[in-house]
Amino acid sequence: MLRGKTVALCVTGGIAAYKAADLTSKLRGAGADVRVLMTESATQFISPITFETLSGNRAVVDTFDRDFAWEVEHISLAKAADVFVIAPATANIIAKAAHGIADDMVSTTLLATRAPVVVAPAMNTGMYDNPVTQQNLETLRERGFHIVEPASGRLACGDEGRGKLADTAALLCGIEAALTAQDLAGLNVLVTAGPTREALDPVRFLSNHSTGKMGYAIAARAAMRGARVTLVSGPTALETPKGICRVDVVSACEMRDAVVSRAEQQDIIIKAAAVGDYRPAETASEKLKKRADDMAVSLVRNPDILQELGRKKRVGQLLCGFAMETQNLLANAEEKLRNKNCDMLVANSLREPGAGFAHDTNAATLLFADGRRETAPLMRKDELADLILSRLLALLRSGR
Ligand code: CTP
Repeated sequence: MLRGKTVALCVTGGIAAYKAADLTSKLRGAGADVRVLMTESATQFISPITFETLSGNRAVVDTFDRDFAWEVEHISLAKAADVFVIAPATANIIAKAAHGIADDMVSTTLLATRAPVVVAPAMNTGMYDNPVTQQNLETLRERGFHIVEPASGRLACGDEGRGKLADTAALLCGIEAALTAQDLAGLNVLVTAGPTREALDPVRFLSNHSTGKMGYAIAARAAMRGARVTLVSGPTALETPKGICRVDVVSACEMRDAVVSRAEQQDIIIKAAAVGDYRPAETASEKLKKRADDMAVSLVRNPDILQELGRKKRVGQLLCGFAMETQNLLANAEEKLRNKNCDMLVANSLREPGAGFAHDTNAATLLFADGRRETAPLMRKDELADLILSRLLALLRSGR
């Protein structure tokens, strides 16, 4: 996403200015061309040489730089940048940006650009909470600026509260979101991910090899594209993607309740979870002790969540299922698409190298209710997630 993008990073004068060095390095590492602009006060906290070394580009400081054609350069940067980032953003630059004040290199360039702008405030809590700062931030929000909220904690001045610059991962996420078309804005999307666990006794369970990576990638991309995302997740080792509401469940029955109770308000439901089809007829309350040489466990069917959703699907709602097969991929997938009343089904084969559980890549065939099929070759799971979301959005827009 950041590869080949020109990022204009405006560093303003606060103690968090040194953290912009890490951001510069991560942005460059991700393939972005980083152009740093600094206010004069920022240079009191960190040297332009740091940014020049990390970005490989000259850092621009003020409007009276004699050996630099700033008057041309700042306008051309305003035009060339794919995204502007103000990190850290002081109360001063936020006030200037909100009111169109242009009195130095950073504020003039900002006023001239049409690129999306990401603002990451960092300041003393009192300044941040001051209604005037909050009002200025609201003005920027209304004008389409992307605000990356500061974190809370102990601030450099010794106060406790809101005002710490968001961490680099959150800043990168905000920058990616600003570069991403918000084509899912206003939509409610529910994604299920991961395995389920069916307890045999307090120490053992039946489960499968799902890691949740595909479902998490879909949830992350949907949120990045502006959707309100609920992720109903079985047990996984994955971090919750930024900006989503995660509901943790363990068993198929718990997943069913969590999904069905939230289904009505969803525009799109994507069932990427590997749900256990059976559970032990009884769960022992104490650890099962070994006695005989063999042992039989009686299993009972779990609810088929997708089938229930398919039965209850409301007009205008889209349902996307997954099928993981080891043989007869397309025939089995087609049957699931029909039986479960899905609008789209993503079929992946465990036999395909690089696809399926635990990989960061996947290959799939997308099957549509109208009989169309589309082959998605091996790609990163986040790319496949985008493709799935784009196809669902197209179905939603066409009224199916
Ligand atoms: N699914 C579900 N509830 C279940 C089983 C599956 O919601 N109890 C959903 C999965 O999340 C997936 C789709 O149904 O989106 C297909 O799952 P899969 O395990 O491939 O197929 P099954 O329907 O379980 O059929 P089979 O095990 O016979 O292949």
